[in-house]
Amino acid sequence: MVAVVSGSASPLLSARLSKKLCCRIIRPEVKRFPDGELYVRIVERVDGEKAVVVQSTAAPQDENLMELLFITDLLRDMGAKEIIAVVPYLAYARQDRRFRPGEALSVKTVCRLIEGAGADGFITVDIHHRETLSHFSIRAIDLTAARAIGEHLKRMRLKRPIVLGADRGAEERARIAALEMGADYSHVEKRRISPEKVEVSPVSFDVRGRDIILLDDIISTGGTIAESSKSLRRMGARAVYAACTHPVLSGNALVRMKRAGVKDVISTDTIEREVSRVSVSGLIAEALG
Ligand code: R5P
Repeated sequence: MVAVVSGSASPLLSARLSKKLCCRIIRPEVKRFPDGELYVRIVERVDGEKAVVVQSTAAPQDENLMELLFITDLLRDMGAKEIIAVVPYLAYARQDRRFRPGEALSVKTVCRLIEGAGADGFITVDIHHRETLSHFSIRAIDLTAARAIGEHLKRMRLKRPIVLGADRGAEERARIAALEMGADYSHVEKRRISPEKVEVSPVSFDVRGRDIILLDDIISTGGTIAESSKSLRRMGARAVYAACTHPVLSGNALVRMKRAGVKDVISTDTIEREVSRVSVSGLIAEALG
């Protein structure tokens, strides 16, 4: 028997996944003590079962992460036969290098904590750098949502679309999405000046009169997309859309992108937001096979 255990950061994705897997869903009781400490309780029996814990770790990252750890450890104590941690958006994934001496390799600690809490397997989606998975010694899988995003974009009937990776690293995702749509693809050259400020260079394609989709793994401040959109609009693009796997959307990111001429923002439900129109539940269900 399989049970999906829904973390409080991923209620919709958990429900979609349990539907796809035709299995029951467990919603742990999660509350806070007056001093702010977290309380987690599961009343259903899970002994001898495979438990799939679904918990995104977007903001508030540390709280969501702690909940995931408590649930995983609890399921182990309750005798679950196998525990798979599905963390569709992994917090701290961008802190995977020591950019300056003395910096914490935060994502390594996060991986160790998840494994240490008792997960037997780990599944995520479009992790910032796949090499991060080497911090696990359990089976760890990174899925890509690019095809599912491409399927959605295809249904939008865009005019002579070009899918542009928001930087060189995103071009492979752009290629996969574009293939699904029968569209052209390339990438934008980006130089980051600070966490909030980026400089982008125009692409080689003639974008005049064409619909452009800027595709990235994460949209955080919206700076990358906003600067690219302004530049593409100046170059004569008909309309600019933004698509991503993880809608982190810090601060006024949505407003910033809209002001820069972005017509619409489309993302998946790895983080549940109003722009989450594509579900990764199908991909995850397939991987759990
Ligand atoms: C960085 O390399 C990532 O792939 C994204 O491009 C980045 O996180 C987007 O950040 P922002 O929305 O703040 O420009």
